[in-house]
Amino acid sequence: MPDCKIKVPFFDASANYISNRLQIDEAVKKVLESGSYINGPEVGLFADSLANYLNVDHVVPCANGTDALCLALMGMDLKRNDEVIVPAFNFIAAAEAIAFLGLVPVFADVDSHHFNICAKSIEEKITSKTKAIIVVHLFGGAASMDDIIRVANQHQIPVIEDVAQSLGSEYGEKKLGTFGTIACTSFFPTKNLACFGDGGAVFTNNEKLAHKVKMLANHGQQQKYVHKYIGVNSRLDTLQAAVLLCQLNTLDQDIEHRRTLAKRYANGLCDLTILLPEETAGIKHSYNQYCIQLSDFQQRDDLKKYLMDQGISTMIYYSQPNHLQEAFGSFGYKAGDFPVAEQLCNKVLALPVSPSLTFEHQDYIIEQIKRFLQNG
Ligand SMILES: Cc1ncc(COP(=O)(O)O)c(C=O)c1O
Repeated sequence: MPDCKIKVPFFDASANYISNRLQIDEAVKKVLESGSYINGPEVGLFADSLANYLNVDHVVPCANGTDALCLALMGMDLKRNDEVIVPAFNFIAAAEAIAFLGLVPVFADVDSHHFNICAKSIEEKITSKTKAIIVVHLFGGAASMDDIIRVANQHQIPVIEDVAQSLGSEYGEKKLGTFGTIACTSFFPTKNLACFGDGGAVFTNNEKLAHKVKMLANHGQQQKYVHKYIGVNSRLDTLQAAVLLCQLNTLDQDIEHRRTLAKRYANGLCDLTILLPEETAGIKHSYNQYCIQLSDFQQRDDLKKYLMDQGISTMIYYSQPNHLQEAFGSFGYKAGDFPVAEQLCNKVLALPVSPSLTFEHQDYIIEQIKRFLQNG
């Protein structure tokens, strides 16, 4: 390994385009020349292709993953102040969608090994007002869906899965996002299936719900200028759908590369006193992120800075749990309410793991982490 500094970005968005340039150029040109920029044929084709990939009956494309969450909730006939259970350790989108719609986000703690909400923490939060549970599968891993679905069924509460970070991951024989009543995803450029801007989708096997969500995403229109619901304008651009059709062809290959990188990290870092993401039997993790856990805040921040000084970018997902965000201050949560989520925020560090990361760069990252931890 050369002792010179190498520059390793956390993620290189344009690499995605460059590796698939011919196909994408062709697809984009076709849309540009067609003039069919809104709801062009690529949108329906992409929805069908994704439905086929996931083995679900209905995919409704929309403008982004946050809208997907809003649309799923809007589709469910919830009333103001109904409670929705959501993990405290998460990107803001799910809790934000709940609160934005006048519903009450009820936070629940997560599992320290797989980072996700668990059946026990959900069960503790169920009340007569609980009308939905949002399960977010973080980093490419999976929440324990068997247990969660059992609890949800016992209480007859629908489950919304957020697979924005886990599209293509498998739980048993099925893809994540096919266990609950409805699922949401994002095609933000860092996701497993990514477009070149914003994009998202909702998917479900429930025909009635799919039909309603489709209307809601298009101003609640039943037919042109006939509005059954108060909806929103949340469409996937034809251009992004054309890009996504190309990207879907390489999704499994990209996930395999992410999994190979994860194995190489696991081999390279296994002797160190850090926690590595767990490979659980029966779950095919897609490693949208590779998050290690350091012993505390100081060590995590020192390692982050050390790696930055060596030219290696890392990220912290997430530095603050949802329940302590100022935006949710009116819901009355306080520090100590969700100890696992709060601890994780102090300990996690995401290492580069994208399909464009080379083995040479990864070896350099591993070497530098070892140097830091063995000398520290
Ligand atoms: C788990 C999760 N859910 C939802 C979203 C929201 O997606 P978008 O940025 O497309 O609105 C994200 C985005 O990063 C996410 O990571």
